[in-house]
Amino acid sequence: MNAKPINYGRHLIDAEDLAAVREALESDFLTQGPRVKAFEAALCALTGAGYAVAVSNGTAALHLAALAAGLAPGDEGITSPITFAASANCLIYAGARPVFADIAPDTYTLAPGRFEEKITARTKAVVPVDFAGQPADMEAISAIAAKKGITVIEDAAHAIGSRYACGAAVGSCKYSDMTIFSFHPVKTITTGEGGAVTTNSRALYDRLCLLRTHGITKDPAAMAENQGPWYYEMQELGFNYRLTDLQAALGVSQLKKLDAFVARRREITAKYNKAFSGLKHAVTPYERPGVFSAFHLYVLLLDFARLGRSREQVFAELSRAGINPQVHYIPVHLQPYYRKNFGFKPGDYPAAEDYYSRCLSLPLYPGMDDSDAGRVIDAVRAVAG
Ligand SMILES: Cc1ncc(COP(=O)(O)O)c(C=O)c1O
Repeated sequence: MNAKPINYGRHLIDAEDLAAVREALESDFLTQGPRVKAFEAALCALTGAGYAVAVSNGTAALHLAALAAGLAPGDEGITSPITFAASANCLIYAGARPVFADIAPDTYTLAPGRFEEKITARTKAVVPVDFAGQPADMEAISAIAAKKGITVIEDAAHAIGSRYACGAAVGSCKYSDMTIFSFHPVKTITTGEGGAVTTNSRALYDRLCLLRTHGITKDPAAMAENQGPWYYEMQELGFNYRLTDLQAALGVSQLKKLDAFVARRREITAKYNKAFSGLKHAVTPYERPGVFSAFHLYVLLLDFARLGRSREQVFAELSRAGINPQVHYIPVHLQPYYRKNFGFKPGDYPAAEDYYSRCLSLPLYPGMDDSDAGRVIDAVRAVAG
């Protein structure tokens, strides 16, 4: 097979991005300069949120959000088992106990009813995940959380550019206290590594900023005393989770192309849906009515038993055709760390485990041309037709 391999995801960097990073490199600030502020302002303009805090990656964004939510030992946080480990790990970083609630079988996102069943007196936060770009049922989840005084941290690592049925942008915090993004290279826009938290709360914003930089403030109004122009105060145990100006320059430039990136992702998704909807043992992605997904991932469900091929065989056959799919995700509760430390076991979350037994993420990224998409379609039809 001589054609170039097509992986499940890939960044798209153009001359404008290169020029923006070069300009940052030649400027007076490599970090903590004006480009981080500009990137944060652009994120606010895109989402409509009042505040944005750019950080070093999506995991750092989740960690800071968990701390800002006040999660501490003795508390519980609830998330979906079908996510990257970071959505649950952030609860443990803050000393809380991770609890999972099963997914809705059609959207693969946290089922509001399952979430409600898992609430206890100790539940302090919920981390719904906008899986594959589709917003979770945030309307229902936020209503339940509000009744119980639970903080909502929306994990929108997959969902920059997505919109709820009401038309508001994901990141607006219309249904959350804080929303986090990731700008890892497979995500819809990239800063290499990078992340952000958006919020409409001034108090949460101040705390996120403090924790991002070691818990240190230089703001005279926020300090207990002021010994002189050199003086700063470390008021809490924070971290260095800063994004650099080089990364922020790339972020500002990438954000300008977000609409085009999402449009191309949706075009390829429509082609795949058309090609695969007739396959007997396949289920194409379901987008809830009115919702607009940025389609970070294209997940095809395949009934491998009925196909008469294991997922390993399908992987091998696709890879012979130069197509490299992925699996998103191994349910987090089944990871050895979670089984050993929290006692989770197979059978705990049947919808998530059924999903995992059938899912396959096909290549989807804006740099794919029609012939790349055609190659994926032909290869999938050859194994699953
Ligand atoms: C759903 C989800 N949440 C959080 C993260 C963490 O983001 P990062 O890789 O930027 O730390 C990821 C990254 O893959 C993710 O997919």
